[in-house]
Amino acid sequence: MRGAERAAGARGVKCSPAAVTTAAAAMALLHSRRFLAAPRLAAAASRASSWWSHVEMGPPDPILGVTEAYKRDTNSKKMNLGVGAYRDDSGKPYVLNCVRKAEAMIASKKMDKEYLPIGGLADFTRASAELALGENSEAFKSGRYVTVQGISGTGSLRIGANFLQRFFKASRDVYLPKPSWGNHTPIFRDAGMQLQAYRYYDPKTCSLDFSGAMDDISKIPEKSIILLHACAHNPTGVDPRQEQWKELAATVKKRNLLVYFDMAYQGFASGDINRDAWAVRYFIEQGINIVLSQSFAKNMGLYGERAGAFTVICSDADEAKRVESQLKILIRPMYSNPPMNGARIASMILNTPDLRKEWLTEVKGMADRIIGMRTQLVSNLKKEGSSHNWQHITDQIGMFCFTGLKPEQGELLSTALSPIFGVGNPAERRATPSV
Ligand SMILES: Cc1ncc(COP(=O)(O)O)c(C=O)c1O
Repeated sequence: MRGAERAAGARGVKCSPAAVTTAAAAMALLHSRRFLAAPRLAAAASRASSWWSHVEMGPPDPILGVTEAYKRDTNSKKMNLGVGAYRDDSGKPYVLNCVRKAEAMIASKKMDKEYLPIGGLADFTRASAELALGENSEAFKSGRYVTVQGISGTGSLRIGANFLQRFFKASRDVYLPKPSWGNHTPIFRDAGMQLQAYRYYDPKTCSLDFSGAMDDISKIPEKSIILLHACAHNPTGVDPRQEQWKELAATVKKRNLLVYFDMAYQGFASGDINRDAWAVRYFIEQGINIVLSQSFAKNMGLYGERAGAFTVICSDADEAKRVESQLKILIRPMYSNPPMNGARIASMILNTPDLRKEWLTEVKGMADRIIGMRTQLVSNLKKEGSSHNWQHITDQIGMFCFTGLKPEQGELLSTALSPIFGVGNPAERRATPSV
């Protein structure tokens, strides 16, 4: 008698030959599964004994999700509207001529690869500060500022956030515009700050909710921190006008708030570096000692080179020296000293008159092209018969556009019209298009 028959007989179960065969097969299967299961059990056991067994799978980055969906789409006319990097007419990354020339000049000098100082390349940090503050700025000329090199805009914001955490004793609260660039929250939160919000964007008008913003800001507890996007607000593309900036500055001053300007798009918004830095310079002129992060990712197309800067405006040069010493103490255990290549390129461009001139033309070219595309989009929508008011598309500025489309409408664009508009899951498609 075979094992299964014996087992069935022992329990007094009557088995048809077919049932016996099935039972035998089941036993065989169980047997084989036991072998198959062994490695899995071993894996589970080793997981249980691992240091990291409690680590849960985190959600993918929403923006990278859009890019993944884009890559999967086989349609030749596909367009990635989520990418926060400038593209040329054929959808290709664009390297500025001035950058190519600066690289050639650097290569011809056969420079060494020694460590940079903790605070970065001095020619670069000086030129960054001058670019932001303006060559005639009293704060710049008197030396009552300190600028350290950061790892592009993100790294510079993180230096700033850590500096506030250590030295801004008055408050932990950082007030962000609603909405703000998605990375602001984790940057400040991971540095130990608390996030609060003030009204900024009005979805009804697709423009600035100025009265809401003023109302909220005027109630922010004194000596808190407020973050302002210097220009080309990410993700809405909505900036205050100069008269509105003036009112904002007056309120901020009245509330005695510490202003943190994030300037990731100088020159890239209007095409004019001075116009885009207007708010930063105006606030300083009003006696508001701001802190500032800068990025050269967009305006010089140095995305992967990670060139950026963090600046603190101080009350005098002596205070600036003390702040600088503490920034170095903060940076040293983080990454010791910053990468040199991007800073060398940016410095070469900013400090070489011909290259600087060429850069100003090229950055204006990129900004004008974005502005032109907004106009084209609106005029083509009209041509296609849309009677909707799309003026906000041309009123907004910079790389990002809040179209005012409802989530379902966005969904429709990327699914009903798919494959033309791409694939991907709804969560990926809903992601805010900003890096
Ligand atoms: C408002 C804002 N700040 C900072 C950054 C940081 O950019 P990066 O780290 O690439 O310089 C970005 C990038 O999109 C941004 O939009």
